[in-house]
Amino acid sequence: MVYERDNIHRLTPYTPGEQPLVADVVKLNTNENPYPPPRAVLEAIHEVSADQLRRYPPPTAQQFRETAAKLHGLSPEQVIATNGGDELLRMAITVYCEPGGRGLGETYPTYSLYDVLAGIHGTTVSQVPLDEDWSVPEDFAAQLNDRGCRLALLVNPHAPSGRLEPLDKLERVARAFRGVLLIDEAYVDFAESDAIPLLDPARGLDNVLLLRTLSKGYSLAGLRFGYGLGHPRIIEALDKARDSYNTDVLSQAAAVAALRSRDEARESWKKVIAERTRLTAALAARGFTVAPSQSNFVLAAPPKGGLSAQALYRALHDRNIFVRYWDAPRIHDRLRITVGTPEQNDALLAAIADITSAARSA
Ligand SMILES: Cc1ncc(COP(=O)(O)O)c(C=O)c1O
Repeated sequence: MVYERDNIHRLTPYTPGEQPLVADVVKLNTNENPYPPPRAVLEAIHEVSADQLRRYPPPTAQQFRETAAKLHGLSPEQVIATNGGDELLRMAITVYCEPGGRGLGETYPTYSLYDVLAGIHGTTVSQVPLDEDWSVPEDFAAQLNDRGCRLALLVNPHAPSGRLEPLDKLERVARAFRGVLLIDEAYVDFAESDAIPLLDPARGLDNVLLLRTLSKGYSLAGLRFGYGLGHPRIIEALDKARDSYNTDVLSQAAAVAALRSRDEARESWKKVIAERTRLTAALAARGFTVAPSQSNFVLAAPPKGGLSAQALYRALHDRNIFVRYWDAPRIHDRLRITVGTPEQNDALLAAIADITSAARSA
């Protein structure tokens, strides 16, 4: 017997990047930060008492909301804490998209989880292809309005290309779109600008929601902590759809300590950015086409006439070097490579040189 709803029965679940159980892997496949989290984060976790664990956690993570609000120059009513950025996506789809229609709009390509969450909710997805240079078409909002979308998901910097759309473009989309614009800033800590200015009341925008996560910039992917920033009315609506205790007491303590250690985290962002520049240049010198990235990964197409991206992905995997490959339109000829430490990036470059020279002499 099939008991589940039809949309769940038909759903292809999200495929996460491989998480190897062995340690000797150069892991450049899931955009984790290669540097450790700020020291104060571990101390804060250790300081959580038995009594705090015995009780339920503060339901709205109020201390975190106040810390994040202060950091971003907002009010706590503009902040919601979530179990990873992924939970914010699920909440936004639940709150704004109608099951059976009037669903979400997105670009193609984009973060593949969006479609899975829409499939779970049973709402429609409208895709607008990105331009050749991975930029968002000027009529993105108009196309979504025509299709009755209630929620637009824009990842900025874009995944998987790493391209950053400027603030004025995002503002034009927000003004033209007749639903809520969620700007997924999962990778914004590695970029030169963010979309916080769109939340300034002086701009008069009431339909912008920003997604943030501690997974990348603060090296805390294992913690599962993200948050949303938006107009108080948006936050209030999302809060109604929140699980009663969606973030636990350990992660709340760690998340507060993480934001207070922003300067320490920033040191890791600087190192990643410097390596991103070096890796981009080194890949380009080997004939790869690399999209300019403002993120902690690069999207790189191997030189034409040599090994395909898929063959290179497999050959790297055989050497315990993990990168990401999708057999999907527009990206099947590229690899998405997380920027690692200098040693990890050197290992990757050496392996690429080795694999390609072995293929040439074969
Ligand atoms: C584009 C994008 N958005 C959001 C997330 C959510 O991150 P998390 O749930 O770890 O906070 C990710 C994670 O990989 C991502 O790539």
